[in-house]
Parts: sequence; structure tokens; C-alpha cells
Amino acid sequence: MNNTFQDLRDPVRGMRLITHGDIPESSFIEMIEEEAGPIKQFFSYYRCAIMEVETKFRVLNEQFSLSGESNPIEFIQSRMKSYTSIIQKLDGRGFPVTLAGMEENLSDIAGVRVVCSFIDDIYRLADCFLGQDDIFLIERKDYIKEPKSNGYRSLHLIVAVPIFLENEKRLTKVEVQLRTIAMDFWASLEHKLRYKKDLPQEKLDVLREDMKKCADESAGWDRRMQEIRDFIDS
Ligand code: GTP
Ligand code: MG
Repeated sequence: MNNTFQDLRDPVRGMRLITHGDIPESSFIEMIEEEAGPIKQFFSYYRCAIMEVETKFRVLNEQFSLSGESNPIEFIQSRMKSYTSIIQKLDGRGFPVTLAGMEENLSDIAGVRVVCSFIDDIYRLADCFLGQDDIFLIERKDYIKEPKSNGYRSLHLIVAVPIFLENEKRLTKVEVQLRTIAMDFWASLEHKLRYKKDLPQEKLDVLREDMKKCADESAGWDRRMQEIRDFIDS
């Protein structure tokens, strides 16, 4: 676990020679293979953890639908954090840019987003998921009950899930975000607009207020849809 990204980046920089027509020596290729091995292995743990978590939610979705209820999950989206974001985050927070540094300090290398139909489904799914004896809760942040100041809503769970490898079991962290379609709609657009920061402050203030209003209004829609479902079920 001592490999650093610096180790990887130097050979990668060297590899640019290939584009200039040079052929790297075989020892150089071997060195890359050797360096890349542990890094590939490290990231594969997180990809496996995503598969495990996704499967657990798909199974729960199936079970709920078997018990006569409509599918609580609209869709699941998973992603691995990009190398650039990983390095920026570690560097920016003063953590070592090493595999051990990543493992210890980052909880969102693997991310699974579960988008649900109704607010109640989020809590039911989260309870069932966390109730499984191989899921270890590290942190729970309920931005639905306590939205962020900009209006962001979702239920965040940082969990550790065991990955069964050839000769070992490895606990791997995954960030799970559960939200409704309305919460996802708002968060996706807010994420896009967030990059347009080269606006004057007054404009940014207006936008911030507007986005907050949109978030609160869409939360109102979520509440109404939940009430309609409760009314149908009553
Ligand atoms: P990070 O270190 O930035 O991940 O923050 P954190 O550790 O405090 O985690 P938090 O639970 O606040 O946020 C984690 C993730 O939730 C982010 O990477 C986003 O995917 C999502 N998120 C949190 N806040 C916002 C927000 O205001 N807008 C949007 N669009 N997404 C958000
Ligand atoms: Mg994060």
C-alpha cells in the first residue's frame, strides 16, 4: 500500500514519449505493470463494493415488488470517483496522496445513488439495507430532515461492505445517497449551475435564493405525492 500516485504519474509522463515515436524499453513497460498492479487491485475493490451494494438494493426492490407493492426504486446510478478528483481532494486537505491515504481519508471513492419514488421508500430501503448483518454503518447524514442551507436534500450513508476475494475478506467503504426523483432533479441541475461561478456577486445571491426556492417547492411536491399515496393506501 505504499504506492503513491507520484510513482504512477512519473512513468505516465514518460509514456508520452510514445506519441513522439519512441518505443519504451521493455524494462520500462515492466516497471509500469509492476506499479499499476496494486493500483488496479485497489480500485477493483471499490468497483466490487459498488456491485455488492447495487445488488443489495436490486434484491430489496424485487422483494418489495413481490410483496405486492410497486417498485420503490426508480433507478440506481453508480460511479467511481475520478483520479483527478481523488488527488485534488487529498492534496487540498493535506492528506498523503497514497493508496493508504485514499483508503483512510476518502469515503466516496465508490458512490451508489438510489433514486426512489416516494420519501417513505427512502427510509424503508435504508432501514432494510442497514439491517443486513454484513453492512456496517460508518456515518449517516439526513439532509432530508435537515436540508443543507442551499436546499440540498438526500439521505447519505457511508457504509463498509465486505468484498470476498480469493484469499481474504476486505471491508470497503461506499457512499450511498438515497433521494427522490424531485431531489435528484434539483441536485443534478444545481450541480451543473455550480460551475458558473464567474458571475457578479449580486447575480449569485439572486441565483442562490432562487435555487433554494426551487428546492423548497420541489420538497413540497414530494410531500404531496407522499400524501396522495398514503390516501390511496388508506
Ligand atoms: P465532500 O467531502 O465534498 O464529499 O463533502 P462531505 O464529506 O461533507 O459530504 P456530503 O455528505 O456533504 O456530500 C457528499 C456528496 O453529496 C457530494 O459529493 C455530492 O454528490 C452530494 N452533495 C452534497 N451537497 C450537495 C449540494 O449542495 N448540491 C449537490 N448537487 N450535491 C451535493
Ligand atoms: Mg463526497
